[in-house]
Amino acid sequence: MDSLSLSSLPFLVIPLVIIFLLSRSRSRTSSSKKLKLPPGPPGYPVVGNLFQVAFSGKPFFQYIRDLLPIYGPIFTLKMGTRTMIVVASNDLAYEALIEKGPIFATRPSENPTRIIFSSNKFSVNAAYYGPVWRSLRRNMVQNMLSTARIRDFRKTRDLAMDRLVDRLAAEAAANDGAVWVLRNARFAVFCILLDMCFGVEMDEKTIQSVDDMMKSVLIVLDPRMDDFLPILSPFFSKQRKRVQAVRKKQIETLVPLIEKRRQEWIKHGSASNSFAYLDTLFDLKVEGRKSAPTNEELVTLCSEFLNGGTDTTATAVEWAVARLIENPAIQCRLADEIRATVGEKKVDEKDVERMPYLNAVVKELLRKHPPTYFALTHAVTEPTRLGGYDIPTSASVEFFSAGIAEDPKVWSDPERFDPDRFFAGREEADITGVTGVKMMPFGVGRRICPGLGMATVHVNLMLARMVQEFEWSGYPDTAKVDLTEKLEFTVVMKNSLRAGIKPRG
Ligand code: HEM
Repeated sequence: MDSLSLSSLPFLVIPLVIIFLLSRSRSRTSSSKKLKLPPGPPGYPVVGNLFQVAFSGKPFFQYIRDLLPIYGPIFTLKMGTRTMIVVASNDLAYEALIEKGPIFATRPSENPTRIIFSSNKFSVNAAYYGPVWRSLRRNMVQNMLSTARIRDFRKTRDLAMDRLVDRLAAEAAANDGAVWVLRNARFAVFCILLDMCFGVEMDEKTIQSVDDMMKSVLIVLDPRMDDFLPILSPFFSKQRKRVQAVRKKQIETLVPLIEKRRQEWIKHGSASNSFAYLDTLFDLKVEGRKSAPTNEELVTLCSEFLNGGTDTTATAVEWAVARLIENPAIQCRLADEIRATVGEKKVDEKDVERMPYLNAVVKELLRKHPPTYFALTHAVTEPTRLGGYDIPTSASVEFFSAGIAEDPKVWSDPERFDPDRFFAGREEADITGVTGVKMMPFGVGRRICPGLGMATVHVNLMLARMVQEFEWSGYPDTAKVDLTEKLEFTVVMKNSLRAGIKPRG
């Protein structure tokens, strides 16, 4: 769930007048429904809790955190015309996403901006639970994200890691030993995903233009007031024009890459010496549809592939480096493990599988800093109950994964960043949630992130290479790491991490 954009509020007065005029009719309609929804903070007629959330001055996740002790692990927020149900306990997440998995596996209807960017819900993440979702997801998982396919892209990752190390060294040399962590990690993972998606290594200029375009997409996807109160849409015509312009730009940027690859694919087919996600999509058979995806749909599917794994992975790496700087003993132990496992050789992803301490660091990282804090929004396929409350099909259901990771009933000393909880086997957690939910950085159940395996390889490998090559410290080296969070598309560090690096001798 992204933040509400306050800057997009045109006027406050007009909505308030509308609210006043509509308040009576609303109270009549809601009393006719006899649903027992989870409790929640009292709201105002028509807008419900929308303005309380938007004007709280807090990031959305903080607003939710603060409500947990008051309303418990399941509560309702009325966000204008939308009913949002927040679920923040491991037991309820298990009941919903595992025990009642198929019922909680769909997505809610989209706002107009998301309809445009998802090509009317034609993507894995946006599709309703049903045949389109099954076809798209099966294709992505079997053809791109299976263990065997991930292995095929090993060379791409090696190249991207070499490039990352070179970029870091060059940036440090030009800046008194200082580097920006998120930006570099983001660039590295974006290069890998671009290559996997389009089948070609791209020059830095093309990469930058695709990246800039993707960032502007994420910005316009931020929910606006009129998404929750459609009655306000006349006041947002400028923003709607911006949405159209960004979509146009997205199509203009990606269609030439798609067409170039299509010509290759027609000419060489499976004889081509590279493989790309796009190749699997050109003639994809989607249940219930006669035609192959259009170019605009391909733009949506490629963007999903790039977006799904870029900021999430880079965010995880930024938090990881912050934690290593904050805890030099953990960094030393990691460097020792790498040296003991590979000696002077460059660490690669096969080695990473033999590094239990690194794996424990990454697991603890994903527990303490799940990059998105919420799963994507879920909805139910039929009216159901959860924790004794009604869940109507019209509700958006938000799973607050960060709340579960911070729950002292689930974790000992949850605030502490402590990889030893996993290394020493003191605590365990099945990240897929099948045997019980204790942490869910990738979601769990039918909609679990299909990129889980690849993302884990990326985070482990990037961290291993970065620690093998460099010693990491604050910049300047006396600076204390500021762990304040900020919601962008993911939950990043409020003050983007600038670290000092020295080649490790
Ligand atoms: C550290 C990296 C990553 C994290 C933390 C992450 C996290 C998540 C989360 C929380 C969800 C929502 C699950 C739900 O709705 O219950 C999700 C869904 C998804 N992720 Fe990831 N993800 C990561 C990397 C990737 C990568 C590398 C890809 C693919 C290239 C990817 C593609 C997707 C897709 C397509 C979905 C939608 C699944 C569906 O609706 O069926 N993610 N991810």
